[in-house]
Amino acid sequence: MNDVETKAPQARKHLVVVDDEPVILQILTAVFDDGPWRVSTCSTGNEALRLMRTEGVDILLTDKNLPDVNGLELLRFAKEVNDLAEVIIITGYASLETALTALELQAFDYVLKPLNNVFDIRKKVERASERQDITAENRRLVHDLQRKNHDLEAALAETRKLQAELIQSEKLAGIGTLAAGIAHEVSSPLFGIMGLAEAIAEEDDVKLCQDYAREIVEYSRTIRDIVVELSSYSRASTSEYLTTVELTRVIEDAVRLVERSADCQGVDFEITVEPQTYLNARTSEIQQVFVNLVKNAVEAVRTHRPDGDGRIRVEAGSDDDRVWARVIDNGPGIPADNIGLVFDPFYTTKAPGKGTGLGLNIVYRIATKYRGTVSVESVEGQGTVFTLSFPKGGSAA
Ligand SMILES: Nc1ncnc2c1ncn2[C@@H]1O[C@H](COP(=O)(O)OP(=O)(O)OP(=O)(O)O)[C@@H](O)[C@H]1O
Ligand SMILES: [Mg+2]
Repeated sequence: MNDVETKAPQARKHLVVVDDEPVILQILTAVFDDGPWRVSTCSTGNEALRLMRTEGVDILLTDKNLPDVNGLELLRFAKEVNDLAEVIIITGYASLETALTALELQAFDYVLKPLNNVFDIRKKVERASERQDITAENRRLVHDLQRKNHDLEAALAETRKLQAELIQSEKLAGIGTLAAGIAHEVSSPLFGIMGLAEAIAEEDDVKLCQDYAREIVEYSRTIRDIVVELSSYSRASTSEYLTTVELTRVIEDAVRLVERSADCQGVDFEITVEPQTYLNARTSEIQQVFVNLVKNAVEAVRTHRPDGDGRIRVEAGSDDDRVWARVIDNGPGIPADNIGLVFDPFYTTKAPGKGTGLGLNIVYRIATKYRGTVSVESVEGQGTVFTLSFPKGGSAA
C-alpha cells in the first residue's frame, strides 16, 4: 500500500451561505458550485442557526443585516460550534463600527454589496479556508510539542530517579568492599571487651573491676562510632535535604571511614581544608565523592609503595565564587592512554571482584549534579591529582 492510499479521505468543508435575498443566494450557489466545499444555503438567520447546530460549520458567509438574526450573532454562534470556523460578512455599507465589531469577533473579512465581483468573493472564501488549515495545523503542532514536552519531562524524571538509584547502589556495593575492613576494625575493641568481661568475672577486687568496666565503656564507644559512621554513610541520599555542607567535616569523616575499612598501613594522610569552605549539596553524596577518591588513592599507593612511604593529601578551599578540592597521591599514576577512560562506568584495572569501575563515574555524576566539575592529572610513576570544583554555597555564597 502506498502513502496516498493509507491517508484517510479528507472530509469536505461545510460552507454555509446565508442571505435573505434569493437572487444573491442563487448567485453565490453558482459561484461555489464546483468548489471543494459542501455548500448549504439559508435564507434566514434562524435557519442558519439550526443548520449549524445540527451539521456544524467550517466557513460561514453571511449577510450582516438579516430580518430575524443579526449576521454578527451568527458569527458568534459559528465560532461557538467550531472554534476554527472562519466567517466572512456581507454588508451593504462598510461602516467603521461594523468593521470593528466584525474584527473584534474575529471575522476573516467582509464583502460589500452589491456583489460586483463574485470571483473576488470566491477568492476570499478560499483564503479563509487556507487560514483555517494553517490554524488547524498550528494547533496540531502545538499539541504535538506539548505531548513531546510531556514525554521529555517524564523521561527526565525517570533519569533523575535512576541516577539517584545508581548513586545509592554504588554506595551499597562500596560498603560491601568496606565491610571487611570495618569488621576488622570492630573486632579489635570487641576482643578487648570480651577479655575484660572475662577478667571481671574472676576478679574480686572491686576497684579493678571498676577500671575494667570503664575500659569496656571506652571500647564500646569506639564500636558505636564506627557503626554510626557506616550507617550514616549508607543512608539513602534521596531522604536527605540539600544543606550547607562544610567540607572540613565531610573530608575528615570520609578519610576516617576509608582508614577504618581499607588497609592503610604505611600511608600518611594530610588534610588541609580552609575553614568555612561551604557548598550546597547533600552531605552523604559529597562524602561519597571523597570516600571514592580517597579509597582509590589508598589502593593506588598501597600497591605502588608497599614500603610505607605512601602519601595522600586532601586539600580544599575557595576563591571568589567557587569551592575547590584536590585529592593528591604519590601512587603509580595513570598511563596517558587510559586517563580519558577513568570516569567511564565499569572501567577498572583492578582484579575481578576487587573493583566495579563505578567509583569515579559516580564521582562525576555527583559533581555534575551540583553544577561542579571533576578532572584528573597524572604523571606515571609519580602520582595523581583529582580536582573538584563546585559553586560556592552557604553563608559565604
Ligand atoms: N588515584 C589513582 N591512581 C591511579 N589510578 C587510579 C586512581 N584512581 C582511579 N584510578 C584508575 O581508575 C580506575 C577506575 O576507578 P574507579 O574508582 O572508577 O573504579 P575502581 O576503583 O576500579 O572500582 P570501584 O568501583 O571499587 O571504585 C581504577 O581501576 C584505576 O585504574
Ligand atoms: Mg574506586
